[in-house]
Amino acid sequence: MVILIVGDVFSKLGRESFERNLKRIREQHKVNFIIVNGENTSHGRGLNEKHFKWFLSLGVHVVTLGNHSYHNKAILEFIESTPNLVRPYNFPEKAPGRGYTTINYNGLKITVFQMIGTVFMGEGNASPFEKTEELLKQVPSDLYICDFHAEATSEKVAYAHYFDGRVQIIFGTHTHVPTADARLLPKGSAYITDVGMTGPLDGIIGMKKEIIINRYLHQTKDVFTPENDGKSRFNAILVEVDDKTLCPIHIKSIQAIE
Ligand SMILES: [Fe+2]
Ligand SMILES: [Fe+2]
Repeated sequence: MVILIVGDVFSKLGRESFERNLKRIREQHKVNFIIVNGENTSHGRGLNEKHFKWFLSLGVHVVTLGNHSYHNKAILEFIESTPNLVRPYNFPEKAPGRGYTTINYNGLKITVFQMIGTVFMGEGNASPFEKTEELLKQVPSDLYICDFHAEATSEKVAYAHYFDGRVQIIFGTHTHVPTADARLLPKGSAYITDVGMTGPLDGIIGMKKEIIINRYLHQTKDVFTPENDGKSRFNAILVEVDDKTLCPIHIKSIQAIE
């Protein structure tokens, strides 16, 4: 089976790019299962119900979130009622929503979960290592897929090696910058440090660049505003998994600038 995983879909340009490229990729590849990071889909911060339903209408199986999970308060009205939306599993236990979902796909149990890193990612979250051990013990599944939402590349690589062979697909999100290290690890897991972002090409991690530059130059704190003009980029990975062994056979990055 072929699994498409798309990096943080960011605001208007990201949504347009996602829809356009999904159509193109589907024409080129037989895609069986789709995972999208949606923490920036609505105005750059968070996800509203309209955009969540739009993802589902396009055939997305699971939408993952991240540190922006609750930045759009509208999510609190539907996050508990859908099995297809996943926030970090190692958030405090009383945090709204779920940290994993197990989808039955043609008789296979596919578990998609998210962990948030501990370096430069805020306080109050449990160890992603310990919480993953817990989840693997408690949730039986044929295929485990982890969105590791983190800033530090070393934390992501350490996590990937530690769970190599036990979590079959480990993909990083959050930095919005794609890394060139998609590969199969020694014990068979498919891995990339960061898938990247699907959104504005010439913003700064999706926001209007002047606002961010002024923060560095003058310590001004203008409201973050998404860049909604200009070119966009599409960042994703395709992972092929052997139908019998459920081991990844191949992983490749997909990038498009339009
Ligand atoms: Fe993001
Ligand atoms: Fe993030």
